[in-house]
Amino acid sequence: MSSNFRKFPEGFLWGGAIAANQVEGGWNEGGKGLSTADVAMYRKHLSKADYKKHNSISEEQIKEAMETADASDYPKRRGIDFYHRYPEDIALFAQMGFKVLRVSIAWSRIFPNGNETEPNEAGLQFYDDLFDELIKHGIEPLVTLSHYEMPLYLVNEYGGWTSREVVGFFVRFCQVVFERYKHKVKQWITFNEIDSIIRHPFTSGGMVPDRFENLEQSVYQALHHQFIASALAVKYCHEIVADSQIGCMLTCLIKYPNTPNPKDVLVAYQDNQFNLFFTDVQVRGVYPKYIERLFREKGIQLEKHAGDDELLKAHTVDFISFSYYMSLVTSVDSERMEQVSGNTIGGVKNPYLETSEWGWQIDAVGLRIFLNDLYNRYQVPLFIVENGMGAHDKVEEDGSIQDDYRISYFQQHLEQMHEAILDGVELIGYTSWGCIDLISYSSSEMEKRYGFIHVDQDNDGNGTLARTPKKSFYWYKDVISNNGL
Ligand code: BG6
Repeated sequence: MSSNFRKFPEGFLWGGAIAANQVEGGWNEGGKGLSTADVAMYRKHLSKADYKKHNSISEEQIKEAMETADASDYPKRRGIDFYHRYPEDIALFAQMGFKVLRVSIAWSRIFPNGNETEPNEAGLQFYDDLFDELIKHGIEPLVTLSHYEMPLYLVNEYGGWTSREVVGFFVRFCQVVFERYKHKVKQWITFNEIDSIIRHPFTSGGMVPDRFENLEQSVYQALHHQFIASALAVKYCHEIVADSQIGCMLTCLIKYPNTPNPKDVLVAYQDNQFNLFFTDVQVRGVYPKYIERLFREKGIQLEKHAGDDELLKAHTVDFISFSYYMSLVTSVDSERMEQVSGNTIGGVKNPYLETSEWGWQIDAVGLRIFLNDLYNRYQVPLFIVENGMGAHDKVEEDGSIQDDYRISYFQQHLEQMHEAILDGVELIGYTSWGCIDLISYSSSEMEKRYGFIHVDQDNDGNGTLARTPKKSFYWYKDVISNNGL
């Protein structure tokens, strides 16, 4: 073995990540209720203004979506038909040697409206079968309890996560799935990118912006409810599922200052600090002082119940998981500078970095910096549960897909992860995002492909849905079988 071979720690959890709302389809099968993801439109059909705020939704869009049973404008209703094809897909993941697959449970399959007292057996059975299939192939399920969807009924009748009652409904859902899958699932994640409610309150909080007079105040209230729900999920997971581990999940939005001007440095520092507000609450169990200042200055007043602070303190997470796609640059003069887009948030262009076709700045070194930052702050195990590059893939005449750009992206990121491990970071696993092509979260398009496995489907839902391994499939298989690069 050559001396520059990069070996990862024994037992490192290699795998991939998907989310129910972006792969399953079967939106009206097995007793499933309508969810927030089922009303997300393919952005081609949105006006320019709506395109800009594509993470949001209006009253008319909800009404229109609820009145149609057609899936064509709502790609998350069809996903990639994982609902029916999961055995074939899991067999391919097993061929790559996956140790773990990150999936999520659609709340609306288990409680179609969200507020029922009894769960939907068909929904529970679907995930039983899915977990059995994974276990049969020696793949451990890593399950996210809430990944960008909730029953639409709770949005319309309760105001989404702004309602304290929703905490109770969610906790019931958690208790049911912990009890049901306690022998099959030991690794759990509470809320996908819990910080994202600030940027897209509908997708992450079930909040229709037009319905709120003071949206910012309501968003922080909803976030508080998610923190409480998360603490209760940790509590019940530990009580119900023996030998379980449950983590929080954060979007890494690391920012660099545009210049050494202390004002730029301060802006970047404050933005990075804000990014860690969410882990501060879930790992340390308290609202940090800098957020108290922010709340005072913005006039945000949280309604807390007696015992909330104690609950947050008592039930902190076992590990931190996060997504990493890119880094950002900021400046006091940000608005006057050339901008780039990104994972739900843009920033100033970094001249040292290349961008993906969607304008996201590729920065493997930033991943090493972030891993060190997180570990030095918290000293808890870290798990990268999303990382990858969305790209247009070309199917060659012989049917192959030569995605060397994707291999290069992964190669660079894995090298930096390895450096971080050498730095002393306790990194327990890596699940690349969209290990099979899926529907984009932000735009609901299909042409932005992340997978090791190609899915024959276009933006409008045309295609055979056939699965084809890409060149990166064989590269990743090799990485996993060598436990390194
Ligand atoms: C993350 C989400 O923010 O980014 C995923 O957790 C999402 O659900 C991923 O798919 C990539 O974003 P997009 O918009 O390219 O699908």
